[in-house]
Amino acid sequence: MVNLFSTLPLLSLFSLTLALALSHASTVSQGETNPVPSPLRLRALSQASLSQEDSLRSHLQKRQDQDQYQSIANEDETDPVKAATDVQNLEGIPGVTDGSTRTDLQITKGEGNTAQLEKHSTVPWVASPDTGGDPTYGWTALPEMEGFQLNRTWEVQQGMIMPFYITDNYRPGQDNSAIKRAIISFPGKPRDSWKYGNLFRNALAVINANETYGISSNQVLVISPAWMNHNDSAAGAVRDGELYWHGSQWMKGGNSRNPGLTDSISTFSVLDNFTDWLFLSGEFPNLNQVVIAGHSMGGQATQRYALIKKQKSYDPNMKYWIGNPGSFAWLTEDRPYPNATCSEPDDWHYGIGNYSSVVKYARNDIKAGKQEVIDRYRSRKVHYAFGLLDNGKGDTHCQAVMQGGNHLDRGSRFIMMLGGMDGGFPIGTQTVDFIPGVSHQDYPMMCADESLEKLFLLDFNTKFPSLTDVSNPGDTIKPKKKKLPGGKKTFDTPEHERVAYSLLGGSLLLVAVFFTALPFLFSPNFDRFETHSWETESKRKLL
Ligand SMILES: *[C@@H]1O[C@H](CO)[C@@H](O)[C@H](O)[C@H]1NC(C)=O
Ligand SMILES: *[C@@H]1O[C@H](CO)[C@@H](O)[C@H](O)[C@H]1NC(C)=O
Ligand SMILES: *[C@@H]1O[C@H](CO)[C@@H](O)[C@H](O)[C@H]1NC(C)=O
Ligand SMILES: *[C@@H]1O[C@H](CO)[C@@H](O)[C@H](O)[C@H]1NC(C)=O
Ligand SMILES: *[C@@H]1O[C@H](CO)[C@@H](O)[C@H](O)[C@H]1NC(C)=O
Ligand SMILES: *[C@@H]1O[C@H](CO)[C@@H](O)[C@H](O)[C@H]1NC(C)=O
Repeated sequence: MVNLFSTLPLLSLFSLTLALALSHASTVSQGETNPVPSPLRLRALSQASLSQEDSLRSHLQKRQDQDQYQSIANEDETDPVKAATDVQNLEGIPGVTDGSTRTDLQITKGEGNTAQLEKHSTVPWVASPDTGGDPTYGWTALPEMEGFQLNRTWEVQQGMIMPFYITDNYRPGQDNSAIKRAIISFPGKPRDSWKYGNLFRNALAVINANETYGISSNQVLVISPAWMNHNDSAAGAVRDGELYWHGSQWMKGGNSRNPGLTDSISTFSVLDNFTDWLFLSGEFPNLNQVVIAGHSMGGQATQRYALIKKQKSYDPNMKYWIGNPGSFAWLTEDRPYPNATCSEPDDWHYGIGNYSSVVKYARNDIKAGKQEVIDRYRSRKVHYAFGLLDNGKGDTHCQAVMQGGNHLDRGSRFIMMLGGMDGGFPIGTQTVDFIPGVSHQDYPMMCADESLEKLFLLDFNTKFPSLTDVSNPGDTIKPKKKKLPGGKKTFDTPEHERVAYSLLGGSLLLVAVFFTALPFLFSPNFDRFETHSWETESKRKLL
């Protein structure tokens, strides 16, 4: 009896987990872009095979494996390409899409996002807040978070508000001269920006707690922009005037999708807005470094931003921390695992071989100067971090599988690709950390010693001189005129349009239509999107 009762809750927990895992698996097979594996699903899979596996592997074998991982970790600083090549010699990595994760070797069990790492157990932990809704059907609200302000008033462009979390050591309108560094974090695929802001804050607490670093919590800002999408808008998290994107397009620099606005803005332009504000507004006179950081889909976003980000005077003071990305924007045309039947493997966001596929933000830069963009990326301070147990397959699209079967495979192959380019691996500007004992785990990745160093310590008190050349390869290309259905071109301004139509105006009908429209164009409620709808409407009538 006692046994039965004590197993009941376990049984129901098990069936719940199974149901969740199954429902997730079916969402994935319906073709939703899903570059990140569901932790639930991975866990269900790995637990099933774990007990067998455990009994098969002797303790000796386990020790040998740990030594092998450690030797890779030891050489990654001086010879990242050798370390990456050694990763390719690990069992179950090259080309493997269905390996089971070595949970027996994990330093932290589970996702690792709910408690301080054991080795820092004296450092207090702050739990992430909960909110309503879910990542598939949308979040119903952005939760408030202890230690952060949720700023929902920043208009980055007329009528477009970008919501974000910022640690409350930022004091609007007051003295912010203590601030020396800012971390701008990306969320993972679930767009749970509060969770990631909170995890970086907990990692920062580890640095603050150790007096040898001499870094106090009021010297570092953690900013977490809330990139939301259609589903969040439908579910209620997006307020009037707040920006949102489509699906996961925030990750690749896609443009916002708010209906009714003629203008839309790339997530990467909004990031430029943040870094301009931090470096150029004068509010942070002692700011030295800004770090863009993300794990998993956030790591993907960070890598793409580091690649195509517009040149700015403060670029020498920008760093990028990329943890376990699901895929990369590859820099060369060839791939480690060629697949002739896979379509457009070098299109954005998997590569830069086809400029028309690149997001508007950088299309002209790739068109006019792909090599310059590559060289610029290699000169940027990019810090890669890969969990040596992260053999999760993540993105299962053929374009991703051509880069590698799993996260670690892709990561090590990307490093080898960098090593194979002219000039070899950019050892002066970029670093690689292969982290033993960690799988696809957000917090254990961020809080590994190697990561803490890049995120918080490196160049803490250093400010590098600004760049004077802030041009981009595509700057000289004039923006293309928008085309309307039917191939007609729109005009840059209503004035251009008026002139064009006047010139065309042999037809009395055209002139008549135009003058009829004047009151709408100059109505007291004039604004850009009314103009746009008017243009579209009137064009349609004229065609
Ligand atoms: C999420 O939004 C997309 C785009 O609007 C839509 O196609 C999809 O059905 C939504 N998903 C859910 C689960 O509502
Ligand atoms: C944000 O970026 C856009 C696009 O570059 C620009 O038009 C806008 O002025 C910027 N806003 C702020 C507040 O910097
Ligand atoms: C919100 O953010 C903007 C720009 O980042 C800043 O100027 C403003 O003071 C912030 N508002 C509050 C209430 O923190
Ligand atoms: C503090 O940092 C130093 C240098 O990294 C390290 O050797 C020491 O173990 C740390 N102390 C604690 C209590 O973690
Ligand atoms: C190659 O790509 C096609 C098209 O997506 C896919 O069906 C096939 O499984 C891929 N082959 C391999 C070996 O990954
Ligand atoms: C390049 O990208 C465009 C836009 O996405 C697409 O229509 C075209 O098919 C692509 N071309 C190739 C060769 O991949």
